[in-house]
Amino acid sequence: MSTLPPNLIAQTTRKKITTLAFRQKKERGEPIAVLTGYDYPTALALDQAGIDAILVGDSLGMVVLGYENTLPVTVDEMLHHCRAVARGARAALLIGDMPFMSYQVSTEEAIRNAGRFLQQGGMQAVKLEGGRERLHAIRAILGAGIPVMGHLGLTPQSVNLLGGFRPQGRTAVTAERLLEDALLLEEAGCFSLVLESVPARLAEMVSKRLTIPTIGIGAGAGCDGQVLVTHDLLGLFDRFTPKFVRKYADLHTEMQSAFTAYIADVQGHTFPAQEHTVEMPDEEWEALLHNLNR
Ligand code: KIV
Repeated sequence: MSTLPPNLIAQTTRKKITTLAFRQKKERGEPIAVLTGYDYPTALALDQAGIDAILVGDSLGMVVLGYENTLPVTVDEMLHHCRAVARGARAALLIGDMPFMSYQVSTEEAIRNAGRFLQQGGMQAVKLEGGRERLHAIRAILGAGIPVMGHLGLTPQSVNLLGGFRPQGRTAVTAERLLEDALLLEEAGCFSLVLESVPARLAEMVSKRLTIPTIGIGAGAGCDGQVLVTHDLLGLFDRFTPKFVRKYADLHTEMQSAFTAYIADVQGHTFPAQEHTVEMPDEEWEALLHNLNR
């Protein structure tokens, strides 16, 4: 007999989500829920809550490692976090984000680095940013048997080229180019596509034209699924909150008040209390004193 509550039994016996399941969900019109995850306890909570996929995003550079943007993140840093997530998640599809310069230099490097995400990171798929300029790398990675998720619109690794973290595809010309890129990524074999910070009606049109699911972030309700950076949703990242985020908690403030209370308890001698203390049997204590006084 399991001692788990029924809702947790349902979650722990949940069927493994695959890239094929992503496609089937789109066919059935079922929205796909994705969140980022970077560590073991969060992966456990996400998986048990029933998330479809966990993206170990290179956003971890900003929200976990404190970098200014995602550019400094390395493959080794990503893999460290991927392994932690893989230890916590059972059913969710696990997608590792290929960091800046891990797939741009050559197709050989792209395949090798993508392979590390599966072999050493415990991921089941990789994500990389860019459209037509990335087709060689995407085809090569797929040729090695590794599922690829695309990423169009605001692609943070190109922040310097884009002139900042700004919405994309807001003119007829750039919107048409984005639609073309989306079709090219589908044709190349991507199993899904992130659309970041693009006008809602453009994202909806792209979603309708593709057979693979689109996962939107700041791209409106017309996408086949949604993704958010978990630290934004939890209110854990204090630098800024993008307009498209809905905050479901304010954990930064909660953490601060817990830490403040702890400091006050230590300074006021109210922690640790009796119940946090290990006791020694009186006779052993007496024996110790006796031995020391001999
Ligand atoms: O790195 C990341 O977390 C991402 C998502 C915002 C899609 O790429």
